[in-house]
Amino acid sequence: MKRSYLAFVAAAILTAAVPVLASEVFEFKAKNGTVTFDHTAHQQRLNGDCAKCHQGTPGKIGINRDVAHDMCTNCHREMNGPTRCNDCHKR
Ligand code: HEC
Ligand code: HEC
Ligand code: HEC
Repeated sequence: MKRSYLAFVAAAILTAAVPVLASEVFEFKAKNGTVTFDHTAHQQRLNGDCAKCHQGTPGKIGINRDVAHDMCTNCHREMNGPTRCNDCHKR
């Protein structure tokens, strides 16, 4: 249940006309393959509705196997996100 946190701030300033792209990504280590979670992409596709995943003031959730397989997978079933093991777990 090792959990590591990786924040990528990919600042790509291409031209003066293109806004800075910043993406925050969390990596959850699992023995059957690391799960990569793009926080920024999820915030955007859920129209900034933090309450889809956070209760109260957004902060650490404490992702573990049970939370992930409940919260992540249930929403993916409803919204056509990835639900197969190897869609999330990558070796
Ligand atoms: C699709 C689910 C989802 C949505 C929507 C979401 N988050 Fe998160 N957020 C997460 C997960 C997963 C983590 C990592 C939690 C952990 O490691 O316990 C996280 C972590 C965080 C953290 C802690 C960061 C850190 O450094 O540990 C903050 C603050 C946060 N989110 C704010 C927000 C805000 C503000 C919004 C709405 C604009 C939002 N989140 C929307 C899933 C989500
Ligand atoms: C409230 C809904 C919701 C929750 C909760 C949620 N996701 Fe997603 N996720 C989505 C949607 C919607 C997509 C995009 C589906 C598409 O358009 O292909 C997605 C896509 C993904 C993808 C494919 C790569 C990408 O980012 O496009 C991964 C991997 C993923 N989610 C992991 C997770 C993990 C891990 C969690 C839990 C920590 C989680 N998601 C929680 C809605 C959610
Ligand atoms: C939506 C993404 C997602 C899908 C789909 C998914 N998982 Fe997971 N799984 C996770 C996350 C996130 C964790 C938490 C990892 C952690 O605790 O750091 C996890 C944890 C686990 C763990 C615990 C690993 C460890 O090292 O303790 C196992 C085993 C596991 N998953 C197996 C599966 C199997 C088997 C399937 C398919 C039936 C599956 N997962 C589908 C996201 C997913």
